[in-house]
Amino acid sequence: MLRVKSLVPLLAACLSVALFAASATAAAAPPARHSYNGLALTPPMGFNNWAHYECKLDEQLFVNTADALVSTGLAKLGYRYVNIDDCWMEKQRDAAGNLVADPKLFPHGMKWLGDYIHSKGLKFGIYEDVGYLTCQKAPGMYGHIEHDVRTFASWGVDYLKLDYCYSPDDRYPGKNFPQVAHIVYGEVSAALLKSGRDIVFSCSPPAYVFGKPKEFAEVMSWIGSVCNLWRTDDDIFDAWKSVVANYEGNVGLANYAFSGGWNDADMLEVGNPGMSLTEQQSQFSLWAMMASPLLISTDVAKLSPAALKILSNQDVIAIDQDPLGQQAEIVTKIGVVDVLSRPLANGDHAVALFNKGDRAEKISLNVMAIGLPAGRYRLKNLWSKQISETRRMLGANLPAHGVVMYRVSVIR
Ligand code: GAL
Repeated sequence: MLRVKSLVPLLAACLSVALFAASATAAAAPPARHSYNGLALTPPMGFNNWAHYECKLDEQLFVNTADALVSTGLAKLGYRYVNIDDCWMEKQRDAAGNLVADPKLFPHGMKWLGDYIHSKGLKFGIYEDVGYLTCQKAPGMYGHIEHDVRTFASWGVDYLKLDYCYSPDDRYPGKNFPQVAHIVYGEVSAALLKSGRDIVFSCSPPAYVFGKPKEFAEVMSWIGSVCNLWRTDDDIFDAWKSVVANYEGNVGLANYAFSGGWNDADMLEVGNPGMSLTEQQSQFSLWAMMASPLLISTDVAKLSPAALKILSNQDVIAIDQDPLGQQAEIVTKIGVVDVLSRPLANGDHAVALFNKGDRAEKISLNVMAIGLPAGRYRLKNLWSKQISETRRMLGANLPAHGVVMYRVSVIR
C-alpha cells in the first residue's frame, strides 16, 4: 500500500466506517453538474498497469498492451486509454526542470510512446502527483504545475492520473486538507484547460480521506467542478475482499456522479489469478452498475477466452457507458443480496442482484421494489442473454459471490 502517512491509519478503517462515510455524504450531495472540460462524458475505459504490474513496467509493456487491445477487439469496444502509472520517471528533474522518463525503461521517450499509442487509434495516459513526490518518490508537480502540464501536452498526453502522496499542506497554514487539495488540484485543472489538448483529469483526494466523513464530504463538494473522475477507495488488489471493500465504499456515492464526473472504484482485476470467474464477472457487473471507469490491469495479450468474454460483454459495457450517467443505487437488500438499480437514457433500467454471501441464494422480488410501476416488462439477462417477460416478479438463482444483471424494458 502506497499511500501518504496521513492515509495509513485509514487503511485500518473497517467497512462499517466506509459505509457510514458513504451514507453520511450522500445525504449532502450537491446538485447534478456537467463535465468541467466537456470530456469523459461516459466513464473512461482502457488499461492501467498498476494493480497487476506495479513498478514492473517498461515501454514494451505499453506497446504490447496497445497492440493487444486492438488485436483482441477490446479497443473497438471502447477500451481506448493506455495509462502508465507511477515509476516511469527518473528520481530527479533535468537541469532545465523537466520531468524525465527513465531512459532504461523508456528508451524511446514518452513522445515516441504517445505517438505509437496514437498510431493504434488509442489514447495515451500518464501518472503524476501534485505533492512534493509521487507515492514511489519520483518528483511531484508541486511548484512546477504549468511547466509539467506543458511537458505532458508536448508528449501527446490525453489523460492525467494525478495522485496526492506527500501533499504540500505545510505551504498553506490555516487551511485544512480538503482546502489545500482544492487549491492544487484546481491549479492543475486550470492548466490542463489551457494546455491546448483534451486531457481527461483523474484525481485522488477522496481516497485520502476515505473513512473520515467530514473531510470526505468537503472534498466531494468541489471535486466534480475540477476533475473528470476521482478515486473513492483504497488501492484495489487481486482478491474478492478487496473488490467487495471498494464496492462498499463506492456504492453509496451515486449522488456525486454525473456525465463527465465519475466515482472511480479503481481498476478491474478481471484476467488476474486471485478470483474465480464468477467473482471477476461480479466485479465487472458491479463496476458497470456504478458507472465506474473500466480500466483493465492484467496482461491483455494473455487474457483467457473466459476473461476476454467478460470484458467484451457489450450489454454490460453499455450499462457502464449509458449516456444518462446515473450511477446505480441499492434499492433494497434481501439478506446478503444487494439489489441495485439505475435508470438508463432510453427509459430502461439496469438491475443487478448481488449475492455477497458464501452460499448460493434464490431471490425473487416485486418490480415495485426496484421503483418500477406495475406493468409488463421485458427482462434481458445480460450474462446468459436469456429474454423473459414479467408483470410482477423478478428473480434469479445466484451463485455465491455472483451477480445477475438485467436490462428491464417496459412493454407498451
Ligand atoms: C497509489 C494509487 C495507486 C497507484 C500508486 C502508485 O496512491 O492509489 O493507484 O497509482 O499510488 O504509487
